[in-house]
Amino acid sequence: MGVTVNLPEKESAASAAVPDAEAALAALADCLADDMLACNNEIIARMQSNVPLIPQLAAHLVAAGGKRLRPLLVFAAARVAGYQPGPQAMRHVGVAACVEFIHTATLLHDDVVDNSLLRRGRASANAVFGNKASVLVGDFLFARSFQILTADGSLPVMAILSAASATLAEGEVMQMTTQNDLSTQIDSYLKVIYGKTAALFAAACECGAVIAGADPALREALREYGANLGMAFQIVDDALDYSASQSELGKTVGDDFREGKMTLPVIIAHSEGTEEERAFWLRTIEDCESQTDEDLDRALSLIARTDAISRTLGKAAEFAAKACKALETVPDSPLRTLLMNVALSAERRHR
Ligand code: IPE
Ligand code: IPE
Ligand code: MG
Ligand code: MG
Repeated sequence: MGVTVNLPEKESAASAAVPDAEAALAALADCLADDMLACNNEIIARMQSNVPLIPQLAAHLVAAGGKRLRPLLVFAAARVAGYQPGPQAMRHVGVAACVEFIHTATLLHDDVVDNSLLRRGRASANAVFGNKASVLVGDFLFARSFQILTADGSLPVMAILSAASATLAEGEVMQMTTQNDLSTQIDSYLKVIYGKTAALFAAACECGAVIAGADPALREALREYGANLGMAFQIVDDALDYSASQSELGKTVGDDFREGKMTLPVIIAHSEGTEEERAFWLRTIEDCESQTDEDLDRALSLIARTDAISRTLGKAAEFAAKACKALETVPDSPLRTLLMNVALSAERRHR
């Protein structure tokens, strides 16, 4: 039984004009530089605490950077929906910082759960400070995000971000239950990644729309853009876990295999494997303890033989196209083009 995943189309002249992922994000960040500066200041101010380990651990992760993609989405969505920041209109900054706090908290928890030792190009917080400290500071950041939300005072924004936080946790729990289970199918995989990643992307965009006072159709269009971008983004991340170099990723390559995660490259390679290859996947995914160093090389060669990376990227491209489609109903502006480029280039993070 095969998995139906379309191959990405041959690069057309139009797609050749799309910048690579880094350039697309840099262009968005450039355009929103004032907002981002205010957001970074807010993040640093709001991660302070009288308990020294909290700012110390948080700073370890925050100072390492990160793309700040979710705050960018809040700002861009607000502006394409007509929001104009000013001395009396600064609430976008708090909401964006809140979204980044939720994301940062989940990264702290995720690296503990995934036993990941590298994050944003440096030793992960759990590697430096230990699992207990990472979990507890993650909790602090979640709690801070609630405080920022109550200070903002918008019930719809609270509803969106609390729902996204619950969905995110569900996604991580669902992932844990599909981990080491080779019978996991693509629909379960898609549900997991919607929960753990796309839900917060969708929420970031929807919050931007709410801040702008967008009508329901515009709000839905921006939410739809975020959800599909988030799906594309996570699918590319799952391809990168098997295909990137550690230095370009800033995270350890091969973590997903070592943890027995049922991501799309494995689902594809397993579904098309010979009996002997399926036995290999069964042993290595369902019983990670039995893995040897050579097993990752074998997994990579089976993934290459079934063309699973380019087919995974093909799936990401499908979601990116849906993200762009959702933006078609949003009023045209240079910022809308930049958002489209972010979606269209997601797959190029890989090249
Ligand atoms: C990492 O998210 C978790 C995934 C959804 C793959 P990012 O890639 O946005 O992480 P940072 O914030 O830029 O480090
Ligand atoms: C990302 O999942 C989702 C969250 C961090 C909630 P991954 O486990 O694939 O992310 P990385 O690869 O560790 O960044
Ligand atoms: Mg992880
Ligand atoms: Mg990953």
